[in-house]
Amino acid sequence: MQRLLVTGGAGFIGASFVHYVLENTDAHVTVLDKLTYAGNLDSLAGLPAERFEFVQGDICDAGLVDRLVAGCDVVVHYAAESHNDNSLHDPRPFLDTNIIGTYTLIEAARKHSRRFHHISTDEVYGDLELDDPERFTENTPYNPSSPYSSTKAGSDLLVRAWVRSFGLQATLSNCSNNYGPYQHVEKFIPRQITNVIDGIRPKLYGKGENVRDWIHANDHSSAVLAIIAKGRIGETYLIGAGGEKNNKDVVELILKLMGQAPDDYDHVVDRPGHDVRYAIDSTKLRDELGWTPRFPHFDAGLEDTIRWYRNNEDWWRPQKAATEARYTEQGQ
Ligand code: NAD
Ligand code: TYD
Repeated sequence: MQRLLVTGGAGFIGASFVHYVLENTDAHVTVLDKLTYAGNLDSLAGLPAERFEFVQGDICDAGLVDRLVAGCDVVVHYAAESHNDNSLHDPRPFLDTNIIGTYTLIEAARKHSRRFHHISTDEVYGDLELDDPERFTENTPYNPSSPYSSTKAGSDLLVRAWVRSFGLQATLSNCSNNYGPYQHVEKFIPRQITNVIDGIRPKLYGKGENVRDWIHANDHSSAVLAIIAKGRIGETYLIGAGGEKNNKDVVELILKLMGQAPDDYDHVVDRPGHDVRYAIDSTKLRDELGWTPRFPHFDAGLEDTIRWYRNNEDWWRPQKAATEARYTEQGQ
């Protein structure tokens, strides 16, 4: 039985991964999570005690990290400051967690010769024009736009350097935008779903023409497990499910699925430096590791996600008012 150390496992994608691993493998999981505003222990409620342990702590805490890394077989590193809008208003925590936190983890993995998998984002590649026929590949040059994406790019480069210089047994993955249960209400899709539940009109930044390449969090998890099992050391794999949609279409679909008029939304001030389009070519992952997404139908996945937010108001309600107050201050 493998012992996994999952950093950031109380966040959106980390928690989805923990559930996925416990349901689909016999691995033991230890979660290390600081429980920032984005972490929620309720996302990990009811997991089997004999296969799951939670440790509250900071990935920048070298002593704690050393002890936990020594006690595991594989580190799966999800912990990050993850929201672009926050990074534009207060970049410092992004440098601490995304850069120093990753450095602290790879130093411990190097010392104890542990397998390491680094979770990253397609945003490290910058953006594409709307009419560009290209998509991101593993060979696209790094060109990040925001404090969030530049600190994630920095963390990727640290991991790559530790592979080359110190022989760290690491793989990396860069995934497109995730959706599904457990996502914080600050993010685009849960914000609009919970706005509609609350009778608030959804908010589109700018014209709403920006394109994101949506993937269900469970498909992200299955891809990460495939890379840990079969990925080549030192390699990067792009994860995507062919889910390109512009923001306006997503809002209109949410409104339709929730029984509202499709034009019942507001345009608000645009995000500074707003990336225009992300699109992933995941050929390498599919051809080399035989991975395919199991949730290829965005409409059905979105309908499930809407149902989850309707049925789990206790989970998101405590965050909603403060999140909307922050957006209102920013004119968004
Ligand atoms: P999230 O904000 O929902 O969760 C982040 C988690 O990390 C939280 O539980 C938080 O408490 C924890 N954390 C933050 N700082 C920490 C620290 N210093 N020490 C320990 N724990 C800390 O983020 P998410 O959306 O689940 O993203 C997880 C990872 O996936 C990130 O690395 C992100 O860059 C990457 N990613 C996200 C997306 C997306 O669509 N959300 C897409 C691709 C990649
Ligand atoms: P977000 O969920 O913040 O993810 P990312 O910035 O990592 O792509 O935003 C997704 C898209 O939705 C992005 O183009 C910004 C846009 N957006 C809105 O139009 N309105 C909103 O209220 C939010 C939060 C985001």
